[in-house]
Amino acid sequence: MDDRALDPSLTLLLDALERTPDNHALRVHVANLLVAAGRHADALKHFRQCESDPKVGTEAQLGVARCTLAIGDAEASLAACERLLEAAPEHPKGLVARARAKHARGQHKEALADYDRATTLDPQLAEPALRDALIRDASDPRARFRVVSGGGPSPEAAPSAVIPETSVADRVTFADVGGLDEVKEKIRMRIVYPFANPEMFKAFGKKVGGGILFYGPPGCGKTFLAKATAGECRAHFINVGLHEVLDMWIGNSEKQLHQLFEDARRRAPSVLFFDEVDALGMQRAKLHSGSMRGVITQFLAELDGFASRNERVLVIGATNTPWDLDSAFRRPGRFDQVLFVPPPDRPARVQILRLKTTGKPVADLDFDAIAAQTEGWSGADLEHLIDSAAEHALTQSIARGSLEPITAAHVEKARAKVRPTTREWFSTARNYAQYANEAGQYDDIADYIRRNNY
Ligand SMILES: Nc1ncnc2c1ncn2[C@@H]1O[C@H](COP(=O)(O)OP(=O)(O)OP(=O)(O)O)[C@@H](O)[C@H]1O
Ligand SMILES: [Mg+2]
Repeated sequence: MDDRALDPSLTLLLDALERTPDNHALRVHVANLLVAAGRHADALKHFRQCESDPKVGTEAQLGVARCTLAIGDAEASLAACERLLEAAPEHPKGLVARARAKHARGQHKEALADYDRATTLDPQLAEPALRDALIRDASDPRARFRVVSGGGPSPEAAPSAVIPETSVADRVTFADVGGLDEVKEKIRMRIVYPFANPEMFKAFGKKVGGGILFYGPPGCGKTFLAKATAGECRAHFINVGLHEVLDMWIGNSEKQLHQLFEDARRRAPSVLFFDEVDALGMQRAKLHSGSMRGVITQFLAELDGFASRNERVLVIGATNTPWDLDSAFRRPGRFDQVLFVPPPDRPARVQILRLKTTGKPVADLDFDAIAAQTEGWSGADLEHLIDSAAEHALTQSIARGSLEPITAAHVEKARAKVRPTTREWFSTARNYAQYANEAGQYDDIADYIRRNNY
């Protein structure tokens, strides 16, 4: 097919690529569009050029695996997957790609194992049709269960459906988190160093591990910071979205919950992250459902167990409604370290803006000026701002037929539409800081409000 027959935006992007051949992010993007257009052989050439770029290499390798398989070269596809998995053995998409390559080569059982591992790590990758085909083709339809010494399929060995986990390859570190220097320093002192030097801390009679709770307005980096903390500790990151999994737990919840903690222990060093922990820690008075109460009791028991015998597993919780959290959660040995994650201050906003524009075509933007105009914006708001500005630049590029970088005008246009989201949170939080702060648990909020004249 000739490029002129392509949709116009792809043609434009190919032009832009000719002018900036080293823009690997763009090249991978174009290659993905070519795949979508069914042009696997062409896409493959682009992917191959980006395989060794640390920024986009993983995506490029996945692209190579996919395209080679599409053009009937399962050997090359498998080789691409092996390269990827060598660097990142637990990369969920890499495992799915290898499952496909092995399936094509007739290694059905191994393919099924890869598929099951991948979907345990990231349940969103589940493709029932693929799994059905793998099971059909594998000689033993119960290959999903590992046989333990007593014989017979062991449900213990079956992958738990509630444990998504990011792979080492997606490692985020503090360098990716803008600002929050004080919070980072506290995390370094209380978590990262003890994790790295457990012996030293033990010598001084200090425990390693235990629970830590991040709270603060939405979009200011709690989840991101938890992930980065795991990255800094070079630990597995096990992310449990409580709202999604609580339903699953009803009925069999206590056992599942125990399983989750056991899994974290097996994978130590690991960070077991409970996002939206308020879902679980709803003040017990507000809870009517008996089954939920059982889950909470179990959760607290697990935390206590952790405090006494656990090593090198860190439990992190995050919430933006700390006032919904039962005080039982904050007892010593549970979430006894509580950290406020505030909105980014001006220098932090500059940093976040820089981080979010890295790798994108930008005219010389005055980040400090943008930061000055975005008081009270969260990191997520700023990310949204840059995304919208990038969209404006892309639309203009397509209209003009040339690559237009993001300019101050694009940012300004975007800023008129994006609404900062932290003020509303503070209007609720202020009430707690003023009227329900007997134990001083909202001092950080009160401080922040005072210092920033909220
Ligand atoms: N300090 C920061 N540095 C860099 N990026 C940030 C920062 N804060 C937020 N972001 C960006 O905003 C996105 C949303 O942040 P995150 O999910 O961590 O917020 P949150 O505090 O967990 O919000 P919520 O309470 O809604 O769960 C992140 O994925 C990240 O890209
Ligand atoms: Mg979050």
